[in-house]
Amino acid sequence: MLLTLTDLERAASERLSAMAWGYYASGADDQITLADNIAAFQRVRLMPRVLVDVSQRAQNTTVLGRSIDLPVLVAPTAMQGLAHARGELATAEAAAHAGTVMVLSTFSNTPIESVAAAVPTWFQLYVYKDRGACKALVRRAEAAGCEALVVTVDAPLLGQRLADIRHGFHLPPELALPNLLDRSALMRSPDAGSALQRFVREMLDPSLSWKDLHWLRNNTALPVLVKGVLRPDDAARAMKAGCAGVIVSNHGGRQLDGAIAAVDALPAIADACEGEVYMDGGVRRGTDVVKALALGARAVLVGRPMLWGLAIEDPTRPLTILREELDRAMALCGAPTVADLTRDLVVHGAAPSRSHPRGRRPGRAAGAYRAED
Ligand SMILES: Cc1cc2nc3c(=O)[nH]c(=O)nc-3n(C[C@H](O)[C@H](O)[C@H](O)COP(=O)(O)O)c2cc1C
Repeated sequence: MLLTLTDLERAASERLSAMAWGYYASGADDQITLADNIAAFQRVRLMPRVLVDVSQRAQNTTVLGRSIDLPVLVAPTAMQGLAHARGELATAEAAAHAGTVMVLSTFSNTPIESVAAAVPTWFQLYVYKDRGACKALVRRAEAAGCEALVVTVDAPLLGQRLADIRHGFHLPPELALPNLLDRSALMRSPDAGSALQRFVREMLDPSLSWKDLHWLRNNTALPVLVKGVLRPDDAARAMKAGCAGVIVSNHGGRQLDGAIAAVDALPAIADACEGEVYMDGGVRRGTDVVKALALGARAVLVGRPMLWGLAIEDPTRPLTILREELDRAMALCGAPTVADLTRDLVVHGAAPSRSHPRGRRPGRAAGAYRAED
């Protein structure tokens, strides 16, 4: 029986080719950050409220002014056609079914226009060296009705994913990349290795800096979110540059190995940032959603779990599992609405110590999150 996201992961691993599975599953280098995104959620513990009337519960919230039914958005993941014949379109329908927003990758196998017609869409932008092409892509996203741009800033070059190098990762010839100028660099590499790594090196701009964020803000009326922020000072700077908010993310552990787990970086950023703060990386349980929202996220995003749903031909399943788990977790936390998910619900590490030295009364539970934690 496929009851949990981990069950879906196992089933997906048995269905996909070694190349596709390696591409979806892997993190950078030793995969320390990949593992820590999950472990960090397990280090956060809950302090449930009791005797709260939880007979009526609701998961609705707003993101950039849009009402959604579930505080879980779909993270941008490239090349969903490797997992399902209808790729991003199947994901878009699953997101629409759950009443949420989908973030569409620049590297999708489905055109922006088809996805934006199916679900409220935010377009994830990789900034090309060719700024004219980048601007044209922004115009296309606007014309398609996308509601925001998500600029990914943690990929000036691609992290080293060993599985992709070992499998000679490349784009199968039957898959299109309709948002790209030139897919040829993504075809099988004559010298083996990862074609994606070569593509990113050739097309994306490693000189991207804050001035380019200003350039983008001046070239679109859409709200801009910055994805891949792990530091409070960077989050504050993004807001100064006129952005609507940030996505706290380490790219699912696929870029800088050894980077801080996303949920560990979240509380300090939520305290420092006046805009909307989102997080992704390692969300696998309804209780993870509770923890992230309690630590200051407006909503979370899930990446790989959606790919697992595609791979087992059941694209709605991941969000259905999360919705049911979140409902149970909110009831058991004494938090009937999203607004009730406040920081006092979480502590870091084990339960607060039951004894403390005589004469020293801690003002808060050991491990409780402070602004400076
Ligand atoms: C296979 C795969 C492809 C991804 N492609 C993109 C992408 O094109 N653009 C982007 O900003 N992030 C991309 N990401 C990162 C995700 O948006 C997200 O940050 C990450 O998957 C969240 O972690 P999770 O998979 O543990 O939920 C990708 C992640 C995976 C696993």
